[in-house]
Amino acid sequence: MSQFDALFQPLNINKLTIRNRVVSTAHAEVYATDDGMTTERYVKYYEEKSKGGCGLCICGGSSVVSIDSPQGWWKSVNLSTDRIIPHFQNLADAVHKHGGHIMIQITHMGRRSR
Ligand SMILES: Cc1cc2nc3c(=O)[nH]c(=O)nc-3n(C[C@H](O)[C@H](O)[C@H](O)COP(=O)(O)O)c2cc1C
Repeated sequence: MSQFDALFQPLNINKLTIRNRVVSTAHAEVYATDDGMTTERYVKYYEEKSKGGCGLCICGGSSVVSIDSPQGWWKSVNLSTDRIIPHFQNLADAVHKHGGHIMIQITHMGRRSR
């Protein structure tokens, strides 16, 4: 048994099974549109990670959840509107197609942002 075997073991979180312990942690992709919708590039960025074997992708580093939490310079996705829902459906489908899972980091930027 090598010291890395655990990395490739599945992980169960309640009813969800993540195929391995390889995670892409939250970061600003800077691939959303100015009004915070995902783009083809955004989707492909995560699809490629899943295709490459990543078990879990965390997208949307510090994505805003409210109209009083401004978009940052990093062009996060905008969760203050339901317009984002079909975009997320596409994103999830692209990742699931290759066996990966995806979750999102959300935040209210509050006093940290102007
Ligand atoms: C450009 C950039 C943006 C990041 N944005 C976030 C973020 O929005 N939320 C977060 O929790 N971590 C963020 N991180 C931290 C990363 O998720 C990760 O924890 C960190 O880069 C350490 O991993 P590494 O050594 O593989 O780079 C960011 C990192 C980088 C380099």
